Amino acid sequence: MSAVLSMVNSTVPAYVKHKKLVAWVQEIAALTEPAHIVWCDGSEAEYNRLCDDMVNAGTLKRLNPELRPNSYLAWSDPSDVARVEDRTFICSERKEDAGPTNNWEEPAKMRATLNGLFKGSMRGRTLYVIPFSMGPLGSPIAQIGVELSDSAYVVVNMRMMTRMGKAVYDVLGENGEFVPCVHTVGAPLQAGQKDVAWPCNPDTKYIVHYPETREIWSYGSGYGGNALLGKKCLALRIASTMGRDQGWLAEHMLILGVTSPEGKKYHVAAAFPSACGKTNFAMLIPPASMNGWKVTTIGDDIAWIKPDANGKLRAINPEAGYFGVAPGTNTKTNSNCMASLNENVIFTNVALTDEGDVWWEGLTKEAPAHLVDWTGQDWTPDCGRKASHPNARFTVAAQQNPVIDNNWDNPAGVEIDAFIFGGRRSTTVPLVTEARNWVEGVYMAATMGSETTAAAFGQQGVVRRDPFAMLPFCGYNMSDYFQHWLNLGAKLQSTGAKLPSIFCVNWFRTDEHGKFIWPGFGDNMRVLKWMLERVEGKGQGVEHVFGTSPRYEDLTWDGLDFTEAQFNAITSIDKAAWTKELELHAELFDKLKHNLPKQLEDTKAVIAGRLAA
Ligand code: OXD
Ligand code: MN
Repeated sequence: MSAVLSMVNSTVPAYVKHKKLVAWVQEIAALTEPAHIVWCDGSEAEYNRLCDDMVNAGTLKRLNPELRPNSYLAWSDPSDVARVEDRTFICSERKEDAGPTNNWEEPAKMRATLNGLFKGSMRGRTLYVIPFSMGPLGSPIAQIGVELSDSAYVVVNMRMMTRMGKAVYDVLGENGEFVPCVHTVGAPLQAGQKDVAWPCNPDTKYIVHYPETREIWSYGSGYGGNALLGKKCLALRIASTMGRDQGWLAEHMLILGVTSPEGKKYHVAAAFPSACGKTNFAMLIPPASMNGWKVTTIGDDIAWIKPDANGKLRAINPEAGYFGVAPGTNTKTNSNCMASLNENVIFTNVALTDEGDVWWEGLTKEAPAHLVDWTGQDWTPDCGRKASHPNARFTVAAQQNPVIDNNWDNPAGVEIDAFIFGGRRSTTVPLVTEARNWVEGVYMAATMGSETTAAAFGQQGVVRRDPFAMLPFCGYNMSDYFQHWLNLGAKLQSTGAKLPSIFCVNWFRTDEHGKFIWPGFGDNMRVLKWMLERVEGKGQGVEHVFGTSPRYEDLTWDGLDFTEAQFNAITSIDKAAWTKELELHAELFDKLKHNLPKQLEDTKAVIAGRLAA
């Protein structure tokens, strides 16, 4: 037996009773050849020890405990700052099952490539065994994963983002199912070689999913969704294929509780692409004039939604923490988020103040006179560089959110009343539109798009079609995914269940100077209220080509100076723009033509007919 294998055997804790899991750890250790193996228990002592080690290694800086207790700052390698969509692969047996929106490679070929890359990839490092549950431990909706990673930064982030630790083995028992996730930063150390603060592989990255065997392999990055494999990889890409096979939905959606002044509670799930204010909506504070309304957070990014025995759709947030974008967040845009970040936070790629606290663009009106920026260089307001990376993040436990919903951890989930789909569009798409029925709602979601921001995709103002905000996250053919939504709706409807209403929103229409017309943020409560009135069958509106939108008099305007002319500017339907829009829908449908549901083509034809009428 090799030295590595005997070390694995001698260190397996007695509470790990799952022989297949132990054998798999042995197999991966034999391949990657780590110097040590640590079976993580998820304890606070372990968290503190790993953070101390990372402070000593220069990976983390401890922030001033008086200003930001128990918090740390990491600066990544400048080449490793975001998800790598062009290096993300869905390796299904058949190419058409990955579909035209995913990168695909034959599984056998990809396995050969990865076996080569992973061979010896953890030399000189520690392999951490990270057991985690997506969803409340033991919930019938939850799924277990085990990540093997050579990054201590991954361990401490996974502890906040998931239910991570020893208790997972109680749920797994001797032969429970788990999703195996293998991760390496792809930077083996030679004997005596000194490590760098943020090891990664600047040249080679692979984020690989095998949907049929439900495995995840990630190589070369230590950042966010590339490395914290419970989030985008398991909870969206792998879980969406589980949902397809088992009749449920894994969605890129936040989940809100909304309580009316009369005390009636509703739940909505909302999908937005990156850079559309998703975290702000997830922690929305109603305007003072509507303070009888209360909004609480169940989830900020991902929803797993299953029909219950009565045909009602119930949702859980599979995550246990937030990995949110810091720049732009402040006490005005999101004071709940700011309150979540007072202590126990890991910040990544924000700037360090002279007092040992953090700063990012938009945190305060005036920037501090001096900072150390995310690349470790001295920074002054006139230096011409950003102090924090535009995709700088915070990692924090959901429990720290002051408006956490008291059902956020309920294993049974919450009943969804409405779905909201939104994108960033400066023209064409009205403030809010209700779909006339489920199929029209699926059409809205399938054709949604968002104008790219320079930070996210290099080119400003181009509409990137992002069906259901799932473009980078759907683990199978997008058209099959549309069909799955249609099938689920039809099935539930056939049982007589009332389906959630579906709405499409756009907070981002601009005036002739390019300025946003709608104030957004807390004022989105006005739109939310109208939606819930529609759910109750009470709200008024006017039908147009695309669905039903409110008239000026149908929204509550107390406490906001917003004219009817302004309202018309964000709700008007420009027929010429919609004709052009439908051409773009046709382009999308052409790209997705393999298995594209006929019902969506038919819906497009109906809209075109209305436009022509
Ligand atoms: C995220 C994203 O990080 O959607 O949540 O990009
Ligand atoms: Mn997201």
